[in-house]
Amino acid sequence: MKWPSSATLVALGLLNNMASAIPLDVEDEDSVKDAAATVAFDMMSYYTGNRTGDTPGFLPDPYYWWLAGAMFGTMVDYRQLTGDRSYDDPVRQALMHQMGETNDYNHQNVTSQMGNDDQGFWAMSAMLAAETLFPDPPEDHTQYVPAVQAVFNEYVMRWEDEGDLCDGGLRWQVYSTGEGWDYKNTISNGCFFNVAARLGRYTANDTYLEWAERVWDWVEGRDLINENYEIRDGTHIDFDTMTCPGMDRNQWSYNAGIFLHGAAVMYNSTGESIWRERVEGILDNIEEEFFRDGIAFEPICEPLCNRDQLSFKGYLLRWMAWTTQLVPGTYDRIHPVLIRQAEAAAATCIGTADRGIPGTACGFSWTNSSDTRGGYGVAQQMNVLAAIITTLIGNVDPPASLENGGTSIDDPSGGRRDESPYQPPPITTADRVGAGFVTAIYCCVAIGFFTSLSMMK
Ligand SMILES: *[C@@H]1O[C@H](CO)[C@@H](O)[C@H](O)[C@H]1NC(C)=O
Ligand SMILES: *[C@@H]1O[C@H](CO)[C@@H](O)[C@H](O)[C@H]1NC(C)=O
Ligand SMILES: *[C@@H]1O[C@H](CO)[C@@H](O)[C@H](O)[C@H]1NC(C)=O
Ligand SMILES: *[C@@H]1O[C@H](CO)[C@@H](O)[C@H](O)[C@H]1NC(C)=O
Ligand SMILES: *[C@@H]1O[C@H](CO)[C@@H](O)[C@H](O)[C@H]1NC(C)=O
Repeated sequence: MKWPSSATLVALGLLNNMASAIPLDVEDEDSVKDAAATVAFDMMSYYTGNRTGDTPGFLPDPYYWWLAGAMFGTMVDYRQLTGDRSYDDPVRQALMHQMGETNDYNHQNVTSQMGNDDQGFWAMSAMLAAETLFPDPPEDHTQYVPAVQAVFNEYVMRWEDEGDLCDGGLRWQVYSTGEGWDYKNTISNGCFFNVAARLGRYTANDTYLEWAERVWDWVEGRDLINENYEIRDGTHIDFDTMTCPGMDRNQWSYNAGIFLHGAAVMYNSTGESIWRERVEGILDNIEEEFFRDGIAFEPICEPLCNRDQLSFKGYLLRWMAWTTQLVPGTYDRIHPVLIRQAEAAAATCIGTADRGIPGTACGFSWTNSSDTRGGYGVAQQMNVLAAIITTLIGNVDPPASLENGGTSIDDPSGGRRDESPYQPPPITTADRVGAGFVTAIYCCVAIGFFTSLSMMK
């Protein structure tokens, strides 16, 4: 791997081993790229999957598998927005390896605890690779878009129709053995919506767009997206009454972001004004809900978020940035917001973690850079990297499609067609590697659920 140039390190005073913050002048593209290189370097210093004997695509404990998928997506954006190709090999290797033997981001090391959202974050990173012309896998390997289509096909198979529990939707968990089998969460359905919309735009195949619409309609029909475009966490299944009475009303920034971006893709593909209205409505809610004095903030948990929640606001910014490319007119609204985030976020990169460059580890609370209670780690780096690189969104090409420069050739035949959603594949010892990566979300969802129930009284 190529690390930040020695010129950057000299500029930072690091060759003299001086602790230092990350200088950032948002008006100066080189300054933005240098700052991003340092944050990316510190983030990738957590990654060990590229070492001999380790598994490509996995982050070491305590980081969950889905977070690694999100991290590689952030690196795909990093390359596209800064032009730095130093990490192409390990990023491509991870995106390829984690497709697994079934070429669907649901392989036997991780399947026992598979959530539809976990699989979706890897699929969205592969989709982004196709949209940004990230180097394709070799010809004899499954390509990015077919792997995403495989995930889509499995979502279709797992979808519960009208008349089933909650009249439709995807459950959180893929298999009945996973905690969360009784929960239909918005992020899983958001992954389906986002992936379907993007496949529709990329391949110009209306079947995908129709599915995206169906998913939106279900989420809206359950009031998980309400008339003010507040987007709630999910709905619980009550197996005694076979209904879905309760709702976790918490608003998380990644749910808002994933639907914002999917709606922007739908607008771009269809030109229908309803999607534009939805984009504007979600943006209004985002500005109200997820910013404090104009700075991104995770209202439910900041500053003491768990390892998953810590990463949400970075995705929000990346999805906002791509929205500017898909819905003309939103750039002038969103870009100034991104600039403010970059400045506030980079100002927190004054810490010293157990790895990376001393004095450059980034914090979690951007509203107060001396509040270090959020700690250091992959998610904190990923958020700040997102904030810095997205300021460059106006410089790059719109997402590619097959008609417009895309090189990842589609193949709608992927995915397991014989999977029974009620029966997980036989558990092997390898499954333990993946076990437990959803537990953290689960306890917080449960807490949020009971909190909202008591608030509803
Ligand atoms: C690790 O990454 C480096 C630099 O990107 C690459 O050259 C190397 O092949 C990778 N190692 C493995 C084992 O793939
Ligand atoms: C599954 O785990 C084995 C053993 O650690 C490893 O060799 C293999 O590469 C892993 N497969 C994937 C797709 O991660
Ligand atoms: C879709 O995005 C492209 C690229 O940014 C843009 O040129 C086009 O006008 C957009 N389509 C619509 C319907 O806005
Ligand atoms: C910022 O955080 C520090 C450390 O937690 C705290 O002492 C200070 O009061 C905070 N400042 C504001 C304006 O909240
Ligand atoms: C469009 O996508 C659907 C769903 O995967 C697939 O069945 C169909 O074959 C695709 N059509 C074309 C022309 O590729």
